[in-house]
Amino acid sequence: MSAKVVVGTQWGDEGKGKIVDVLADRADMVVRFQGGDNAGHTVVVNGKKHVLHLLPSGVLRSEAACIIGPGVVCNPFVLLKEMKTLEESGLSTDHIQISDRAQILMPYHCYQDELEEAAASHKIGTTKRGIGPCYQDKYARKGIRYHEFIDFDSFEQRLRENLAFKNRLFTGVYGGEPMDADEMVEQFREIHDRIVPMIVESTHLVNDAIKEGKEVLFEGAQAAMLDINYGTYPYVTSSSPTSAGVTVGAGVAPSKIDQVIGVVKAYSTRVGEGPFVTELLDEQGDWLRDQGHEFGATTGRPRRCGWLDLVVVRHADMLNGLTDIVLTKLDVLGGLDEIKVCTGYEIDGEVLDYVPSDQAEVAKAKPVYTVLPGWKEDISKMKTWDELPENAKKYVEFIEEFTGVPVSMVSVGPDRINNIDHNDRLN
Ligand code: GDP
Ligand code: IMO
Ligand code: MG
Repeated sequence: MSAKVVVGTQWGDEGKGKIVDVLADRADMVVRFQGGDNAGHTVVVNGKKHVLHLLPSGVLRSEAACIIGPGVVCNPFVLLKEMKTLEESGLSTDHIQISDRAQILMPYHCYQDELEEAAASHKIGTTKRGIGPCYQDKYARKGIRYHEFIDFDSFEQRLRENLAFKNRLFTGVYGGEPMDADEMVEQFREIHDRIVPMIVESTHLVNDAIKEGKEVLFEGAQAAMLDINYGTYPYVTSSSPTSAGVTVGAGVAPSKIDQVIGVVKAYSTRVGEGPFVTELLDEQGDWLRDQGHEFGATTGRPRRCGWLDLVVVRHADMLNGLTDIVLTKLDVLGGLDEIKVCTGYEIDGEVLDYVPSDQAEVAKAKPVYTVLPGWKEDISKMKTWDELPENAKKYVEFIEEFTGVPVSMVSVGPDRINNIDHNDRLN
């Protein structure tokens, strides 16, 4: 029994949701620690697809407690909608709890996100879910936390004060419309009785579970290259989607974490703006998008596609201290004669083996590729390592050698059963 962290190692959408669902089989608790409903985590069970935005992907395993942790910016309306969808599928939502320290993502944050993006000369391409504005208010110490929702009268006062200020910003700076305070208060009054019973002091719950030797899974959203400090700033999200994020976002000390599992997609994708060194703007990129069904789970936007960038994965390993890699979507690469993998960045004639801090430098980088042989077989029904074609094994082994991290599981399809165990480390 242990505390395991699952994080994205690229630009998100690596298949974290699927892997959390697989690992949640034996988990007692699954915890989200950062981000909000900008995440779109797809889990496929017996052919039925579930897309989760706020709920931890362990929610489909009714035995595991599901916690929306202190570091999350949680839109309560989206949360209730998501719970309703699950209930309509006959699933239980009784095991969902929200940290009293989590931030309430307010309707005015979503509108602010829209106005900021519309006004920006360099657009980030956000999901428009209000994530940046909610974290801005959190760090400006103007945010409203879930414990403040319990006493509705004082919550109402906070809402009115904050909205009065936001309306001056919306109309005066952005030329937008003011939002109606009475209407917003009524929207929150309607959901008060459903939300309040879910609010808990989660930090003790999580730490006690670890102390008692329970299996606790921390589910990262987004990924290393979208990290607020170490990603391609400013084209990033507003949180720390790394193993370090667990310590601040769930209140768990680094020494309590046993395994850090980095989910690596067998090629690269990115949604939104920002540099992407291995991006393929040709038919090869279109082929990857078609084969991998690369369209955003949250916004439906087509994902930008390119070859696997191991400079990025090594960056993610450095930040996260990966103990294991789960390689996803290896099935998508089947049919190619050769597969390219980026192992360095050439910038102004010099080859770098790390990601520079300045995104303008990253934008100039030309990928240095190692070319590996492909395979023709459909591997999506394979169940064991031995069944895999030799060249697929070589691809996996190349990743292990380059990063120095064991690939403990290979995912070959979207369903919870489409996995190949490699070394028994995740059992
Ligand atoms: P997340 O945000 O990291 O949870 O990833 P998303 O759910 O946004 O995107 C991953 C997509 O790939 C989803 O549609 C998954 O159902 C799908 N997927 C996950 N693992 C595999 C795999 O091994 N093979 C294939 N073909 N699809 C996969
Ligand atoms: P999951 O958890 C992929 C991207 C957005 C944009 C940038 C900032 O499904 O992997 P934000 O709305 O967070 O302010 O947008 O980050 N982004 C994601 N891209 N997967 C995600 O989550 C993402 N969450 C945010 O497209 O470029
Ligand atoms: Mg996603």
